[in-house]
Amino acid sequence: MEHAIADPLGQGRSSILITGASGQLGRALLEEFSSDDVTALTHADWDVTRPPPPLEVPDVVLHTAAWTDVDGAEGDPQGAAAVNVGGTSHVAELGAPLVYYSSDYVFDGRKREPYVESDAPNPQSAYGRSKAHGEAAAGERAWIVRSSGLFGPTGVNFVRTMLRLGAERDQVGVADDQRMSPTYVAHLARATRELLERPFGIWHVAADGDCTWAEFAESIFEDAGLDCRVRRITTRELGRPAPRPAYSVLRSEKDAPRLPHWRQGLRECLRRLDYPKEGTDP
Ligand SMILES: NC(=O)c1ccc[n+]([C@@H]2O[C@H](COP(=O)([O-])OP(=O)(O)OC[C@H]3O[C@@H](n4cnc5c(N)ncnc54)[C@H](OP(=O)(O)O)[C@@H]3O)[C@@H](O)[C@H]2O)c1
Repeated sequence: MEHAIADPLGQGRSSILITGASGQLGRALLEEFSSDDVTALTHADWDVTRPPPPLEVPDVVLHTAAWTDVDGAEGDPQGAAAVNVGGTSHVAELGAPLVYYSSDYVFDGRKREPYVESDAPNPQSAYGRSKAHGEAAAGERAWIVRSSGLFGPTGVNFVRTMLRLGAERDQVGVADDQRMSPTYVAHLARATRELLERPFGIWHVAADGDCTWAEFAESIFEDAGLDCRVRRITTRELGRPAPRPAYSVLRSEKDAPRLPHWRQGLRECLRRLDYPKEGTDP
């Protein structure tokens, strides 16, 4: 099986192109690969719905640029596909091996034990379909990294939303009927480096452990020292446009890099955000 980059362990500097570089995973990858020769392209630098700009072909592309508005994709499935499928084809056209970040939302969520790489995708949402078709558009020389519930110290994510709501309210309603493995972007970035030593193909790379969004929210408030109660509600009560899998825990049946537990990721993320604040007692 072909290994794609000449020096995956970083004994020398590899040339790395990061798309979507201002997104939460893009920023974590920039930190992780800071000692390599990194070209970081934001949305403004390259809208991936357009063909690639003139670029030197890098050793590897870390392709994080994506339409990530799950509910918005229901109203504009073509827009989501243009970025997640068409954009990925454009990235593959560069001719470099690439890491394509995919999602637990490619699965329908009917299983009650972890999804492994050989399980058949059956996306239920426009976003999930666009990510599944994007996997195919990444081509043969690609690592397809399926992960779940990404959070980090920047960007739009569940942890940052809960920190904001937890400071404003004394109670927040959170879905307790979707189980997944929320994954800290810095852990995924570190695992990406390890993955470059593995063969191309599909890899499930998500945090150890699992929880519902409500359980995750309770842990966020507890570890951040915020006095906010979680009211456990159903996905139906939330009334979001896109269906979400009820169960989308990902595990690897291969030798994928193992990630720390989601609670450890949460604590590391909160530390980066200076939580708990002084005077609170988590
Ligand atoms: N977030 C999750 O829970 C999750 C879970 C599993 C997998 N993933 C996958 O992981 C990857 C990274 O996600 P993330 O959470 O880091 O997302 P993110 O924070 O939303 O970042 C995505 C980045 O893509 C950029 N982008 C959007 N449209 C673009 C276009 N047409 N051309 C170029 N750039 C464009 C965005 O720029 P602007 O903001 O400036 O538009 C943003 O910087 C994505 O492939 C996502 O599908 C995410």
